[in-house]
Amino acid sequence: MDFLTSYQQRIAVSLSTLNQGKSPEGLYAPIDYLLALGGKRLRPVLALMSCEAFGKDVEEALPAAKAVEVFHNFTLMHDDIMDKASMRRGAQTVHEKWDVNTAILSGDAMLIQAYECLNNYDATQFSTLTKLLSKTALEVCEGQQYDVAFEQRTDVRIDEYLEMIRLKTAVLVGCSMQMGALVGGASKKDAELLYQFGEHLGIAFQLQDDFLDTFGDAATFAKRIGGDIAENKKTILVHLARQLGSATQIAALQDWFDKAPSDNTKKIAAVTQIFKDTTADTATLNKVQAFTQKAFEALDKVALSDEHKQRFYDFGRWLMERTH
Ligand code: IPE
Ligand code: IPE
Ligand code: MG
Ligand code: MG
Ligand code: MG
Repeated sequence: MDFLTSYQQRIAVSLSTLNQGKSPEGLYAPIDYLLALGGKRLRPVLALMSCEAFGKDVEEALPAAKAVEVFHNFTLMHDDIMDKASMRRGAQTVHEKWDVNTAILSGDAMLIQAYECLNNYDATQFSTLTKLLSKTALEVCEGQQYDVAFEQRTDVRIDEYLEMIRLKTAVLVGCSMQMGALVGGASKKDAELLYQFGEHLGIAFQLQDDFLDTFGDAATFAKRIGGDIAENKKTILVHLARQLGSATQIAALQDWFDKAPSDNTKKIAAVTQIFKDTTADTATLNKVQAFTQKAFEALDKVALSDEHKQRFYDFGRWLMERTH
């Protein structure tokens, strides 16, 4: 995984000039702030890897990689308002550091800038890439709306939950890989298979994000632990606790969901304990593995050398073991 740091750096350098010399500062400073906080750069790295796997220089995919990362950061800026999150990447969220209006407008600007990054491609490629990004972007909105709506429902099924996370998270991972593959000159079929790989990996990734939101280490995960519990999010942990728990445990979980205490400490501790007692925690990790395995099955079918595929397998395994 040596290539990872060099790809991440390349992306960071390229993003650091996005708003150079632009004004007003009130619009652009929050964008630069969030982008400079970094994160894993998972999606742009996958775009670069996909392009390179099909024989083109990573430089060709850099504008597409930037587009997906700027788009991703736009979704985070707005998601943190929607989730009332105070911490992102170990630092204050934009709406806390500035205010909600700033986070709305700077987020809007980022969405536009994501599309601007694609201006670097010729007309045919631009058209293909923007179509893919638009389809994906709308799906992300659909996923976010389901996520919000599910907070108020008590009857969300696991298949509905999986479809929600496919939309809010996984499609963008798939899109990043398909964009990279297309720029790299992959056949339509291989580009679609890489999309499927990314989509399954993205589902595994979001399941693990749900797990880490409760069971992660605050220092490495860099978000506030227990935020999903406080917000009554119907995460995979909740679904599995309901599936595996006794009637008493399920009733206790529901009791906590019906409460909205001003101090969430007790609620977070009690619900976390229910997740452990019902073994929803280990069952979640098993699901992460199962979806990663599904991702690998799509990858098996791609017409690439074993050497190039190996990088993607390694990446999938690395992601499964992440603590941040
Ligand atoms: C956070 O994405 C939002 C989810 C889809 C879980 P990442 O975990 O990729 O966030 P960064 O970019 O690395 O901070
Ligand atoms: C985020 O899901 C999905 C999008 C931003 C589209 P989460 O709400 O679970 O992401 P985190 O946990 O805040 O990073
Ligand atoms: Mg959210
Ligand atoms: Mg969130
Ligand atoms: Mg989360």
